[in-house]
Amino acid sequence: GKTANQMLVIFGASGDLTARKLVPSLYNLYKANQLPENFVVLGVSRSNLTDGEFRKKVVLESSYLENKVKGDAEEVITTFADKFFYEDLGDDYSKEYSKLATRISDLNSKYETGENYIFYLSTPPSLYEVIAKNLSEQHLNNEKNGWKRIIVEKPFGYSLKTAKNLNAGLQKYFKETQIYRIDHYLGKETVQNLLVTRFSNSIFEPLWNRNYIHHVEITNAERGGVEKRGGYYDKSGALRDMFQNHLLQIVSLIVMEPPIDASALEIRNEKVKALKSLRIMRDEETLFKNTVRGQYLASVIDGEKVKGYREEEGVDPNSKTETYAAIKFYVDNWRWKDVPFYVRTAKRMPTKVTEVVIHFKSPHHQVFKNSNLKNKDNQLIIRIQPDEGILIKFGVKVPGQGFKVDRANLDFYYSSLAKNNVMEAYERLLLDAMQGDATLYARADEVEAAWEFVDPILNYWENGPDVNIYGYSAGVWGPTNSDDLLEGNLRWRNPGEN
Ligand code: BG6
Repeated sequence: GKTANQMLVIFGASGDLTARKLVPSLYNLYKANQLPENFVVLGVSRSNLTDGEFRKKVVLESSYLENKVKGDAEEVITTFADKFFYEDLGDDYSKEYSKLATRISDLNSKYETGENYIFYLSTPPSLYEVIAKNLSEQHLNNEKNGWKRIIVEKPFGYSLKTAKNLNAGLQKYFKETQIYRIDHYLGKETVQNLLVTRFSNSIFEPLWNRNYIHHVEITNAERGGVEKRGGYYDKSGALRDMFQNHLLQIVSLIVMEPPIDASALEIRNEKVKALKSLRIMRDEETLFKNTVRGQYLASVIDGEKVKGYREEEGVDPNSKTETYAAIKFYVDNWRWKDVPFYVRTAKRMPTKVTEVVIHFKSPHHQVFKNSNLKNKDNQLIIRIQPDEGILIKFGVKVPGQGFKVDRANLDFYYSSLAKNNVMEAYERLLLDAMQGDATLYARADEVEAAWEFVDPILNYWENGPDVNIYGYSAGVWGPTNSDDLLEGNLRWRNPGEN
């Protein structure tokens, strides 16, 4: 689609996200000729910076851009940098909005951005409402001349209640269709490909239900610890940081019914329906049996000493915040009745990997007795990252006399398609918002439905009687207790093994 002339106003522009993600994404779009002819970025934050200092910080001297600008002519880089401007905004983001409005209006006249504005809130969520309110007081939500959009970052809420308040707070000043809630997992090619795998092939979807699927397993593992974000993370934990948003987004794409078309409205309607069908766990016994949380302990990984979670900077030495979460749950609808979903997410795992495994039921009747194909060995593995691709595991005859069955793999790598065309998550999402396509953004009811499911678990973990948090050595696949979650003789797949 064509991208209209516009201005991107970034609140919290001196923060990490702008330099690390937004500017590099914009640079990619710039080089790919995807930015509109008239395009201006106005950075806003509390720091006192000039336009020149801001350009230096986020473009000219940014370490995040170093690799991208390598080999580019100086003129190409400075032409890009010249699109950036800066305005500081008092101490608490609650004052000086008339000054900001004047600056926006001046830049709009000078660079002819058509009064089309995106407000990107890369600030703590506690500021969302006050910013929205002030923008509306300056009529910067008014779409009479040019459209106005607002993008908000995670975390979107701390609980169901706070998420609802946040939605209500934003919706007082902006229409839902103006609000874009970013979830960078939806910007990942392979997450989008879940929809294509399911709904453009006739070989998977007919099997995609309780008649053929035994269970679904989703793993999201990170090798790193909390890095420099201990202060934020300790108040959040794996369930809030990853599960409520990214993982439930993946779940919704696996669970949803086929949409009638690929529009934002229809896709998001189906996702909401999917999220609403997750069986909410309410009583303590159910919560006890179906959830496991853990925390990483100091260890040595590849000869390198790593700290335990409680020793990390910004983390309470008695912290009960989970860095590992595994949840078993059911989906109460026609398609998925009684199919268990096992979802785990954690930091300090042996490797960084995100994958979805669809485990199919075994054939009703075993004809071949001499088989290495174990129960539920027919699997469809969707590797979201890294080594993006699809792996199908099936049985083949071992050449020779008799009927001996062995396991075989059909393996597709996304990289075999033009790799350089793959857009980074933020790049894709930014361009979508610039073009007014909200398909890959979370709608208010989606976010709330996800919180409905997560809230009782958090509540139980925080307030329930005798809830354990298990330690696991950094670099292993979580606490041993996570195996108790699995039914019968099932075990978690080791994503490293093929
Ligand atoms: C972020 C979380 O949303 O996602 C981080 O806040 C996490 O804690 C990150 O590390 C993981 O993203 P990715 O794209 O590296 O899987």
